[in-house]
Amino acid sequence: MSHAISLTVNGEARAVTLDDPRVTLLDLLRERMALPGTKKGCDRGQCGACTVLIDNRRVNACLTLAVTLDGAEVTTIEGLATGDTLHPVQAAFIDHDGFQCGYCTPGQIMSAVGLISEGHAGDDPERIREGMSGNLCRCAAYHGITEAVLDATR
Ligand code: FES
Repeated sequence: MSHAISLTVNGEARAVTLDDPRVTLLDLLRERMALPGTKKGCDRGQCGACTVLIDNRRVNACLTLAVTLDGAEVTTIEGLATGDTLHPVQAAFIDHDGFQCGYCTPGQIMSAVGLISEGHAGDDPERIREGMSGNLCRCAAYHGITEAVLDATR
């Protein structure tokens, strides 16, 4: 049995028919919507590489079934910049070298955008580290990441 859903992805209305209700949002974005910026790391909710915003809240796309998203508004890393102008969080990650290999960076940035919009970041590095703790960086660029989020909250 197929399922039809309508959702908004990066401001664009999308209608999707799902033949398999087990399809995750991560696979929907990467394989059917040509949005590979959202990364697949663990595919089991442990690394945060797949973080996106659903209705402005942070979620792991690998743990979210696409079939549950009828009417939802999804924002991915591809939807952050405005034309050639980076989102302030993207610019802050560049300014503070908040990455090394870059694989986790889309998830880190989406998580930071969510954290800041939730109003829980403040200017306390410890709170930022705790708020970003669901996003792992195998290169351990954590100092630059924290500095970038701090800068973006100012
Ligand atoms: Fe989703 Fe790791 S790929 S948390």
